[in-house]
Amino acid sequence: MLSSTASLKQSGGTEFKRIVFDEETIAGRVRELGREIAAAYPDGELLVLGLLKGSFIFLSDLVRRIERPLQVDFLVAASYGAETISSGNVRLLYDPETELRGKHILLVEDIVDTGKTLNRLVKLLRAREPRSLEICALLHKHLADHLELEPRFVGFDAPQIFLMGYGLDHAENFRNLPYIASLT
Ligand code: IMP
Ligand code: MG
Repeated sequence: MLSSTASLKQSGGTEFKRIVFDEETIAGRVRELGREIAAAYPDGELLVLGLLKGSFIFLSDLVRRIERPLQVDFLVAASYGAETISSGNVRLLYDPETELRGKHILLVEDIVDTGKTLNRLVKLLRAREPRSLEICALLHKHLADHLELEPRFVGFDAPQIFLMGYGLDHAENFRNLPYIASLT
């Protein structure tokens, strides 16, 4: 009989090689992050904004560990293939319905790689005059030359290799892995 790890190992013709962050490690860190975040916002309205699709599993585990009132909404950003587009531009496929002005905004991202996505979103969100804007990233590769806003809350410093699982995809596959695995 296949173990559950073996049956999850292949998807879309690709196979992951090893587990980098296991379920217990992730759950423990998410619990700590929830406490850090609750302590960082003693007052005011908190809106947790998840960047789809990659943050969906992290976000759902995280908000259940933040013991204070909050609201949840989502952002879907269009990824431009061509680098001819000016980096100040980002197109939102889904724009949060919720009013941002005057609220503490916590933007939740799966992984910070080059930082381009976040740099664009930070400018766009700041223009909406939130009371504060911070980033919570599950993983940080520390590859970016310049970040408009360094994530205040980081789950793990990640190795600079391709990672998947726990929401992160490889060509849309592997998002359902309960742990984070690598191709190499
Ligand atoms: P950035 O704009 O280069 O920081 O890329 C951010 C986005 O690229 C993330 O939100 C992910 O969706 C994706 N990404 C970057 N690195 C990885 C990885 O190692 N595995 C899966 N997705 C990644
Ligand atoms: Mg992706």
